[in-house]
Amino acid sequence: METNVVKVKSNMVDGDTNQDIETPNNITIKGILGLLMANTETASDDEDEDIVNGGGNLLIKMKKKKKVISLGMGDPTAFSCFHSPAVAQDAVLETLASHKFNGYAPTVGLPQTRKAIADYLSRDLPDKLCADDVYITAGCTQAIETALSILARPGSNILLPRPGFPIYALCAAFRHIEVRYFDLIPDKGWEVDLNAVEALADRNTIAIVVINPGNPCGNVYSYQHLKEIAETAKKLRTIVIADEVYGHLVFGAKPFVPMGVFGAIAPVLTLGSLSKRWLVPGWRLGWLVTNDPNGTFKNPKFVERIKKYCDICGGPATFIQAAVPRIIEKTEEVFFRKTINLLRWTSDICCEKMKEIPCISCPHKPEGSMAVMVKLNLSILSDISDDIDFCFKLAKEESVIVLPGLAVGLKNWIRITFAADPSSLEEALGRLKSFCHRHSYQQNGHC
Ligand SMILES: Cc1ncc(COP(=O)(O)O)c(C=O)c1O
Repeated sequence: METNVVKVKSNMVDGDTNQDIETPNNITIKGILGLLMANTETASDDEDEDIVNGGGNLLIKMKKKKKVISLGMGDPTAFSCFHSPAVAQDAVLETLASHKFNGYAPTVGLPQTRKAIADYLSRDLPDKLCADDVYITAGCTQAIETALSILARPGSNILLPRPGFPIYALCAAFRHIEVRYFDLIPDKGWEVDLNAVEALADRNTIAIVVINPGNPCGNVYSYQHLKEIAETAKKLRTIVIADEVYGHLVFGAKPFVPMGVFGAIAPVLTLGSLSKRWLVPGWRLGWLVTNDPNGTFKNPKFVERIKKYCDICGGPATFIQAAVPRIIEKTEEVFFRKTINLLRWTSDICCEKMKEIPCISCPHKPEGSMAVMVKLNLSILSDISDDIDFCFKLAKEESVIVLPGLAVGLKNWIRITFAADPSSLEEALGRLKSFCHRHSYQQNGHC
């Protein structure tokens, strides 16, 4: 297992026994971004600001701190151009004002919410889902936690993509599930290395995780590739966990195909949320869905296990759940189209600007989601040792935050989130360019 564990002495349970408790010390995105953000506060390389009098004459040059621009977090709502549809707010206000949804919801979710999600996802599936296939969770994060917890058993392992989304490894560590990484291949549009998957799996493999559209790579998988993944899972007698939190957020040539389309080949647990498509990550409304026409997940013991786990979790606020049917029904296509057009625009800006920066390269233009993986060419940087060093120096000198690739499993790469307003993105990439120029050998006269 790749997970390191921090052991601390605790006498919480019994003052005399002084037992060990263990906390996995995996890198988390939030953790590392917090450190980078703190690093900007001591920024020493501030810009000059001209203070002029009424006649426009220069009186004094003042030091001005650069505005911090974060391209690190996958929260588009940090930028005002990404805002949720008014109908979603109206729906929540209405359910809240009705005073009908102040009590506990069933822990698997309100029946009308489960039904609304089942109908919404069924639009793109050959076999229709029913409300009982859907479990409502607090965001997709809790769906991940639930999926891994219900599948975990002694000696089990899970196959995760590298690069990937670190919450999977963190949850696995808490549940003592061994993590085995398979590579995504940059030159093949970040497709899954299916040979690696086959080599890694054994009879204790509980699932293959597929993130499509992908974070951190911006990949969108073809129908054919998804089918091959399902066939591989079938051959290996395991299941697919399909993380579709970025479902429908595609702006390239390929359409979004849900993994559930192949549920008859191998059982699929589909995870998703309102967070990204509706631009409401703070509402914490997600789902775990059993996509499996052959009924593997209908095993009463399995259903009982999910329900018990939902009893522990509790799920999202009842009035948010109650608003879901109306949110889905009332949100117009034009809202989704606007988000897609904006993401296409900002991903284009990102790719164009990156072409001007020799020390970074992007092997595959993003086709979906909100992020892209970019390779660092350290050989032309004079005083940058690795991706962590790059990101910390960039934060300090330019007040620009990007995520070190190490946080998502790929050392000496960086992840750039392009869900930002176009002018901030251009400004941030301009600063990235000057940073790279300043730190390159040529600039320093070393070559
Ligand atoms: C791949 C992936 N899965 C799950 C999540 C968590 O989603 P949520 O915010 O709905 O908990 C994220 C969030 O960025 C993500 O990128």
